[in-house]
Amino acid sequence: MSKARMWDERYAAEGFLFGTAPAAFLSKHAQRLSPGMRTLVVGDGEGRNSVFLAEAGLEVTSMDISEVAVAKAQRLAAERGVEVAFSVADILAWPWTPNAYDLVVAVFIQFLLPQQRDVVFEGLSATLRPGGTLMLHGYRPEHLELGGVGGPPLAECMYTESVLRAAFPELEVDVLESYDADLRGGTGHTGTSALIDFIAHKPVPGAS
Ligand SMILES: C[S@@+](CC[C@H](N)C(=O)[O-])C[C@H]1O[C@@H](n2cnc3c(N)ncnc32)[C@H](O)[C@@H]1O
Repeated sequence: MSKARMWDERYAAEGFLFGTAPAAFLSKHAQRLSPGMRTLVVGDGEGRNSVFLAEAGLEVTSMDISEVAVAKAQRLAAERGVEVAFSVADILAWPWTPNAYDLVVAVFIQFLLPQQRDVVFEGLSATLRPGGTLMLHGYRPEHLELGGVGGPPLAECMYTESVLRAAFPELEVDVLESYDADLRGGTGHTGTSALIDFIAHKPVPGAS
């Protein structure tokens, strides 16, 4: 079965697999968001994060491989009265326009194997404009021992602090925090989870 079909089937059930509230990571760091920021949300699923950002006044583009999820995301945005530029696309074929976004958001995109992740992480960084911020959030390998629901069952797809530091050598790290927390986002993410927050910005050349 194709990846898109697999996700379409997961999203076909009634309701929102990951809930309609934004990831706690985004609410926790909401002081970094300002109206008008040109923002790309990758692997956005049913739109809980892109809609939250649009409600905060950001100018949001969202992409996900699942047509079913994107249709749900469009309905959520319409219900909330906000505009988001949605697209159905494979992140591995995404055109990473250089220096385009003030903010790039990647929450639980751990469907990527390490080699694919390298390519995508390069794209996330390249598409940030100088001064722009990357907000990346996901599971740590310890998650597999905690028994919470969510994430692939593969330690190699999880993030550690050293993996993330090494992955973005051209960014300056603002937040790198590992912690365990109870997630309550729909049925897709529940229980005690080993998490990691990574927030970093692209330096502006010539600025100290
Ligand atoms: C664990 S979900 C997270 C969804 C969303 N970020 C959230 O926090 O609610 C992973 C998402 O990645 C999407 N996805 C999987 N493979 C993808 C790919 N190759 N390109 C783009 N999106 C993909 C899935 O459809 C799914 O919506």
